[in-house]
Amino acid sequence: MGGRLVIRLLLFSVAACVPTGAAAQEEGGGASALGVTVGKLQTDGQKRGDAIFHKNCHLCHISTAQKRELKINADQLVGLFKRPTTNEQAVRQLIQEGIPKRMPSFRYNFTAVELDDLIAYLKIR
Ligand code: HEC
Repeated sequence: MGGRLVIRLLLFSVAACVPTGAAAQEEGGGASALGVTVGKLQTDGQKRGDAIFHKNCHLCHISTAQKRELKINADQLVGLFKRPTTNEQAVRQLIQEGIPKRMPSFRYNFTAVELDDLIAYLKIR
């Protein structure tokens, strides 16, 4: 009986943690496959930006339970452009330059249009 209880408690605590993390990120709109709720994709640019983000940025910027446990999560960037401190020019520059030892530079990865699409997506993420 003791063993079963421990397993139940473990399952409960896992279940209790996951939605809390997701709820904290909630911004309204549609839910992505990983349970993070982002704004609705409306324009073609936002849709292309979503694809670019999920191809290039998800590795670090989409949280999973395993990454949370290992404490290797980067910011999920949900609501980035709703923060009063966010500056579009600075975000563009950061994506192009990266962060030494933390985030790669994407200077040679995107065309100007792709970068615009990515920014359009980040604005509703
Ligand atoms: C190899 C991991 C990695 C990849 C891939 C990556 N990033 Fe990052 N990024 C980081 C880390 C680490 C930080 C520092 C902030 C943190 O720890 O949350 C960061 C920070 C940022 C910030 C600043 C966040 C803030 O709160 O000001 C932005 C914006 C950002 N990344 C955008 C992107 C975009 C867009 C992509 C895809 C084109 C991308 N990153 C790909 C690791 C990554």
